[in-house]
Amino acid sequence: MATNIAAQRTLPGPATLPLIGGWSTMLKIFSDPCTYSRQLRDTYGDIVAMKRGDPKYVFAFGPEYNFQLLSQPALFEAGKGTILKVPKDTAWSRLQLSNLLSMNGEHHKRHRHLMQPAFHKRQIGLYRDDMAALTERLLERWQALDQINLHAEMQNLTQRITVKTLFGLEDEQKIDQIATLLQQMEASQAWLLLPILIDIPGTPYHRMLRLAEQLENFIRSLITQKRSETESNDVLAALVRAHDEDGVSLTDEELISQTFTLYAAGHMTTSTALTWTIFLLHQHPDIQADLLTELDSKLHGEAPTLESLPQLPLLDGVIKESLRMLPPAPTSMRIAAASCEVGGYTLPKGSTIFFSPFLTHRLPELYENPDRFQPRRWETLSRTPYEYLPFAAGVHRCIGAEFALMEMKVVLAMLLQRYRLALIPDTIVEPKGSNLDPVRGMPMRILPQDRRFERVPVRGNIHHLIEGI
Ligand code: HEM
Repeated sequence: MATNIAAQRTLPGPATLPLIGGWSTMLKIFSDPCTYSRQLRDTYGDIVAMKRGDPKYVFAFGPEYNFQLLSQPALFEAGKGTILKVPKDTAWSRLQLSNLLSMNGEHHKRHRHLMQPAFHKRQIGLYRDDMAALTERLLERWQALDQINLHAEMQNLTQRITVKTLFGLEDEQKIDQIATLLQQMEASQAWLLLPILIDIPGTPYHRMLRLAEQLENFIRSLITQKRSETESNDVLAALVRAHDEDGVSLTDEELISQTFTLYAAGHMTTSTALTWTIFLLHQHPDIQADLLTELDSKLHGEAPTLESLPQLPLLDGVIKESLRMLPPAPTSMRIAAASCEVGGYTLPKGSTIFFSPFLTHRLPELYENPDRFQPRRWETLSRTPYEYLPFAAGVHRCIGAEFALMEMKVVLAMLLQRYRLALIPDTIVEPKGSNLDPVRGMPMRILPQDRRFERVPVRGNIHHLIEGI
């Protein structure tokens, strides 16, 4: 009875203009997810409709709803909610064909099972050498530079690491070539937002489709090469070798698409996380000094290995804390496969329900001083997968989580032992967009590691998100 009464209540949420509807809320949440999701929760509570009374798009904030949404994958499905159009029967659509995040049920289970071996701990240990070699190359290049945009440098590095570990390319020129191709593809995706798309030579859309064809052909030729090799340790080689109990493996089309998805999902998130971790360390000189002491004493200038990682608890805490405060996937969503009840409200089949790792990570009942960067809290703190979820939780939990953590540890440990990065004073620092990218980059001076750590004043909305900087 109580449920029925609750189900008839109007879903709280912002009143919106007639034509724009809930899209103004959607735009705000994608452009500044941290500030706006906080405003929504403070104003309306844990369940908020994008448009007051409309159950089609709903936010559900907090660990109980994270649990409800992520532990019932048959009722709350992943994917399908993309706002980008996928042009049919093109190389672009084939690159998107098999995307783990758009699969559900048995289909998802089978693909995930086939891909899992490429991300086993032992396998990730093998990628570590490539991660260290490419980081070393970057640090050598920095010797000739005084100032960098840290975010751009981290994007470039993670992209090269992803290309090398995914495809096993040795040739530097080829790595650059494919990295550039992927970059151009990424940059031109925005055209898919346009209402009408016609494939006419000279248009950006035409160019995007041709880039997709080049990429598809490139991956296809690599697959042929991997089939003839037995020794390669890259992700694509592991996927080519993978087969399930019945001996069935991924088809070439599935391999092409899964490799592309891994690339797309893998490098942007990791580069953003690295940039914010370095920024947070820079703003907390004492923690940075302690971390360097830990790294120097255990690694003596080297990169960590799978064996030495357990001896680096502060490095682990720093990364956990950075992913808590500024998670590169601050919000995500599920789609109701049937009519359901969330927070006492009835939502029809097809409703999109957003959940927020960012907001969960800032709840004072879960984290004392939630807006303070305190990596040592992780020495004693333990949280459930629905209370701490930078990689989400449940069947779609990030398959690359251990890969990303290893990569971040290798890059941070090598970089901090070699250089001291100093932010340019009064830089405007603003995490925005669906990945929480620093919208104005992160300009930093490169100095030898002399341990003269010093916080530099910054401006921007970062002050609303991090206390004590
Ligand atoms: C700090 C870095 C990373 C973060 C914060 C991150 C975050 C996430 C999150 C939150 C999800 C789940 C989204 C949802 O459930 O709606 C996810 C899924 C996924 N991630 Fe990551 N990710 C990172 C790095 C990587 C890397 C390095 C790879 C691959 C090399 C990767 C590949 C994937 C894939 C394939 C999925 C879909 C899994 C599935 O649906 O079964 N990610 N990631």
